[in-house]
Amino acid sequence: MCGIFGIVTKDEEPLGQILIDAAKRLTYRGYDSVGAATISGGTIDLRKDTGKVEEVAEKYKFAEMVGQRGITQLRWATFGTPSQVNAQPHLDSDGDMVGAHNGNVVNNIELRQQFIAEGMTVRSENDGESCVHAVERYIDQGMDFISAIQHAYHDLEGDYAFVIGKVNDSKLYAIKKGSGLVVGIGKDFTCLSSDLPSILPLTRDIIRLEDGEIVTLWADKVELHSVNDGSLIERAPERITESMASVQKDGYPHFMLKEIHEQPQVAQELLHRMKGDQEEIDQILETIKNARNLFLVGCGTSYHACLAGAVYFSQLAGKAAIPVLAPQFEPQYLNAVGTGDVGIFVSQSGETKDVLNALQASQSKGMTCLSMANVIGSTLTQKTEAWLPLVCGYEISVPATKTFTNQVITFMYLAAQLGGNTDLDFDTLPDLMAETIESVDPAVKSLVPKINPWENSYILGYGLTYPMALEGALKLKEITYAHCEGMLSTEFKHGPLSAVTEGFPIIFAAGPEDVPLIISGINEVTCRGGEAIAVGQANPALAANANDMVTIPKSNPIFASLLSVLPLQLLSYHMAVARGYDPDFPRNLSKTLTVD
Ligand code: G6P
Repeated sequence: MCGIFGIVTKDEEPLGQILIDAAKRLTYRGYDSVGAATISGGTIDLRKDTGKVEEVAEKYKFAEMVGQRGITQLRWATFGTPSQVNAQPHLDSDGDMVGAHNGNVVNNIELRQQFIAEGMTVRSENDGESCVHAVERYIDQGMDFISAIQHAYHDLEGDYAFVIGKVNDSKLYAIKKGSGLVVGIGKDFTCLSSDLPSILPLTRDIIRLEDGEIVTLWADKVELHSVNDGSLIERAPERITESMASVQKDGYPHFMLKEIHEQPQVAQELLHRMKGDQEEIDQILETIKNARNLFLVGCGTSYHACLAGAVYFSQLAGKAAIPVLAPQFEPQYLNAVGTGDVGIFVSQSGETKDVLNALQASQSKGMTCLSMANVIGSTLTQKTEAWLPLVCGYEISVPATKTFTNQVITFMYLAAQLGGNTDLDFDTLPDLMAETIESVDPAVKSLVPKINPWENSYILGYGLTYPMALEGALKLKEITYAHCEGMLSTEFKHGPLSAVTEGFPIIFAAGPEDVPLIISGINEVTCRGGEAIAVGQANPALAANANDMVTIPKSNPIFASLLSVLPLQLLSYHMAVARGYDPDFPRNLSKTLTVD
């Protein structure tokens, strides 16, 4: 949630376009509002409002902004409604400091009352403003920035990263506590950001900050200090070689469609990598094999991959695994776990707070913790004993697609290896995925006019396709704003059947071994006027019983489960576009949720 970017140059120069480009590359983190501030000599130019980067930047002419330092922020609202006054960056009382944050200051309300009582000018309800006043409080007492931030750190409760600058100075200052912060070092400039995509087009030399570190940025150098005792921290920059290819749309109208089409290719890269890392995979398999209890922990889409993983571990390796939503781990299992138990923590971003909280709790009980994440260097990858990279490149679209399928394939591969299964020919999987994406698209598009008029629908699956039904329904909810529930097909008769009226759409994801059961479910709804749409392999009985059929290529039941999610991704995409929504950036959502 929320993204910040800051840059320091030698002299005053046009920074507007740099700030716009950086903001665009952070859009996946939040888009309730956007703001930009430049500082030159004794003046601060601050422009901000609600809306998308393109609109706000155009309206307030960000491109014309000049300065020796610049800050931009994209907001995903928690404290204070999305509004111009709550948009970041924020000024201090006198308007000679400006700052922005990413994260959540949980004692924001108490702090605002203190600041008002101390005579400061508090303009918004936003906790980013509290970060600025927390520093102002100590700067006004005559402290230098490092000391002021050290003191502010003790006042600000929660997890955040923030950046701040002052007129008649030439530096920016920032601190990391729980939220991501990366520094970039270029020729005659330095910069910082919540994440790499906004830095890599400018420089590939970066320093990752750790929690409790303050960074000071000059145009030609950076300095790190410990927030605890102010001591200097030495850290050499690292060079990033990662490709930025995924940050372009490459002719696709949306990142989501591009990322759907990238799935076969990233699947191939993932399989290649896992095959090449047999030693590491063997170690992970040994840990899994010896686990007393094996927990698969995640949120949202990543949780659905955990559900799939549990089915694969059971069916392919005879190993029980417990999938659990990260925030439920503590109340449901913490008291019962300890050394000998293993958790695999699954996350695209590697920064989801709910997942990191569950990880911390598990580690406190001595559990062995492994992870699966897409973002290299993310907190999750650093805090677990071993991590499996998802090898997807950047996933920009807020609804996850390619990272989900690679999570599923990772579980499938681990389960097959653990069970010594040699029947599954993983080399054929990327081609099967490509064939599915190409072949189902016309049938999926033809369903859009039928389903789109409904604000309610169901996607039902059974066994191997149950997690895919849940994931398909989540995609549909995220980007069409219609309600769609994913459910075990056999549960539908235990209540939801009462919702069925003439034409009510129900999609059945049918695994090849479950066709008779699915046909029963189909008839329970069609005899009541419901519209049954089957997603499955060619099967005359299935086609004869359903009103519509989306046919996926023939494969084994394990691969078929993965293939069945591809038409569901495409369906949600086409429905969202037909409704006039931007599937890449659905309202109210953020790709990376670093708050509770
Ligand atoms: C947010 C995103 C979801 C995502 C979930 C978990 O809610 O909007 O799309 O599935 O976080 O994210 P993670 O990065 O941990 O996979």
